[in-house]
Amino acid sequence: MNENLSAQSFDDELATEKSLRPQFFSQYIGQEKVKSQLEIFIKAAKMREEVLDHVLLFGPPGLGKTTMAFVIANELGVNIKQTSGPAIEKPGDLVAILNELTPGDVLFIDEIHRLPMNVEEILYSAMEDFYIDIMLGTGDGSRSVHLELPPFTLVGATTRAGMLSNPLRARFGISAHMEYYLEQDLEEIVKRTAEIFEVEVVDDAALEIALRSRGTPRIANRLLKRVRDFAQIMGDGTVNRAITGQALQILDVDNEGLDYIDQKILKTMIEMYHGGPVGLSTIAVNISEDRETVEDMYEPYLIQKGFIVRTKQGRKATAKAYEHLGYAYSEEK
Ligand SMILES: Nc1ncnc2c1ncn2[C@@H]1O[C@H](COP(=O)(O)OP(=O)(O)O)[C@@H](O)[C@H]1O
Ligand SMILES: [Mg+2]
Repeated sequence: MNENLSAQSFDDELATEKSLRPQFFSQYIGQEKVKSQLEIFIKAAKMREEVLDHVLLFGPPGLGKTTMAFVIANELGVNIKQTSGPAIEKPGDLVAILNELTPGDVLFIDEIHRLPMNVEEILYSAMEDFYIDIMLGTGDGSRSVHLELPPFTLVGATTRAGMLSNPLRARFGISAHMEYYLEQDLEEIVKRTAEIFEVEVVDDAALEIALRSRGTPRIANRLLKRVRDFAQIMGDGTVNRAITGQALQILDVDNEGLDYIDQKILKTMIEMYHGGPVGLSTIAVNISEDRETVEDMYEPYLIQKGFIVRTKQGRKATAKAYEHLGYAYSEEK
């Protein structure tokens, strides 16, 4: 069963995610650095009765950026309006959204690196001085209209720091870099989710799931759901260590937490390109994934775990990757 455990979600998963989303800092597990900073900025803004500075959240998919945007709004006690870069196709779309804001609102723009340039440019004055100047009409009959906006907080989320233009990046007063989660935090997240699902999970099983979740809460929750199915059919419904081990093996999640696609990336690099250096696009084509997915979702974890290194000539599989997948490694290639 080569289910792609890291892939973006389906509708049913979206519903689950909503039900699992922590609402306040007190329920948001891990990311201590980001949390403690934001807590201070939020308290200070509330004390001064000002809007919170604009916040940019960076990090790979599934680490809790959307969740954090909602937590920020809840902690501020304000409304949140949610949209995404690709959903805003033209300046008018953004104007319509900005026009509906009420004072203090959080405007959450997911995948903000994918905003069209002419839309992004409107954001500059909106973010900096809470106004926009828009052109109405075309040709001789066109005129510029000045629109004042209520003060608001823009929360932007992006998987890639490097893709944001400098002028846009510069307008965020706060930027927070989300890290892969520590094992003990993921274990706690698994236990919290189990409680919400009303499924019994033995301690060492929760830890095992945590260890295999690529440092990512979304994957931890997804694995727990699948393992729960196995426990229900093959056992008495309790998620124990043995069932977890079996389920993860069937799901193709190995003991380093690498899934089928991770393994395929490394195998391709080793078998077809002698371990590299090889370009990311070439790898993506070979495994029939798009480049962006490989770059956002898979590569950061493989680099963090020391299976891949980035060189000027391209990506290289490390000795650790060879060893992990059972290939012989030799220095001179
Ligand atoms: N710190 C956390 N504590 C508990 N659950 C979390 C945490 N961060 C994320 N999750 C869960 O992981 C899933 C993915 O989080 P999400 O905010 O959608 O990630 P992102 O927007 O970064 O892709 C959600 O179901 C959420 O409930
Ligand atoms: Mg998100």
